[in-house]
Amino acid sequence: MKPGVFLTRALPTPVMHRLKTLFDLKYNLYDRPLTKPELMRGMRGRPALISMLSDPIDAEVIASNSRLKVIANYAVGYNNIDLKTAAALGIIVTNTPEVLTEATADLTWSLILSLARRVVEGDRLTRTGRWTGWNPTQLLGMNVSGKTLGIIGMGRIGQAVAQRAVGFGMRLIYHNRRRLPHRVEKRFRASYRPLPRLLAAADILSLHVPLTRETRHLIDRRAFNGMKRTALLINTARGPVVDEKALVRALKKGEIAGAGLDVFEEEPTVQKGLLTLPNVVLLPHLGSATVETRIRMGWMVIENIQAVLKGKPAPNAIR
Ligand code: GLV
Ligand code: GLV
Repeated sequence: MKPGVFLTRALPTPVMHRLKTLFDLKYNLYDRPLTKPELMRGMRGRPALISMLSDPIDAEVIASNSRLKVIANYAVGYNNIDLKTAAALGIIVTNTPEVLTEATADLTWSLILSLARRVVEGDRLTRTGRWTGWNPTQLLGMNVSGKTLGIIGMGRIGQAVAQRAVGFGMRLIYHNRRRLPHRVEKRFRASYRPLPRLLAAADILSLHVPLTRETRHLIDRRAFNGMKRTALLINTARGPVVDEKALVRALKKGEIAGAGLDVFEEEPTVQKGLLTLPNVVLLPHLGSATVETRIRMGWMVIENIQAVLKGKPAPNAIR
């Protein structure tokens, strides 16, 4: 008999085919997240759960299924899962690192360039028929070459963003829990800075930390106070790393010049103040959203479930 797997959201077609071939698959047939009761009912009695970053997998959900062996999160981030409860019950939690690094770094750069060169404002102007012809002073943005990119969080994604910055001729400074080995710093011509100095020096500040107790509201009112008035903030990590209310205030007061956001504090809700500001670019959490990446994330989830169900170490177990 095939092992039972519950999937909280339909995945790209090739992944669905493979899941149905390998497992007794039950999945969410609606094009929306499940409610908590629906989720608990769906996963009942099944040894494997495939969850999305938008599913809160709390203690009650985890404990509701005594047969559960593995929670395979279809994301690199796993702040949606109560790891302590899972560990206490001997349930393995896995994620999908690496396969989404390049896609997320590309999306980060889409935001950097869109914001610096006012791409979205320009599209709006053109599309609404208000463009009256080339104009030497219209929609002037900022060069990225020669500017300083500040990266907070130099893990895999932070480094992939840094690598692209070399090509764009930017100066690179970073902050990380641990300083990187000299040879890695050299590869990106990156210099380590304590956080306040990084904030003060960055023309563009990009966040690549996971959401933890330490990083929640890392960028708050005080941080905005310490930034350049011309600085742009980019967040493709997790919404709550930025105090969104403080961000709106900083943008309105001109404490920083703009923001490019792929993530929000209370997804899918967006702080009202942000919606009317011209100097922000807002995306609906698209970091890993490419066909290739979402399929590779699917293969990774499958590998992890198979390993756990065979009693082998999961390649991407979170410890
Ligand atoms: C996306 O945000 C992810 O964590 O995979
Ligand atoms: C995780 O944040 C990574 O860098 O892949």
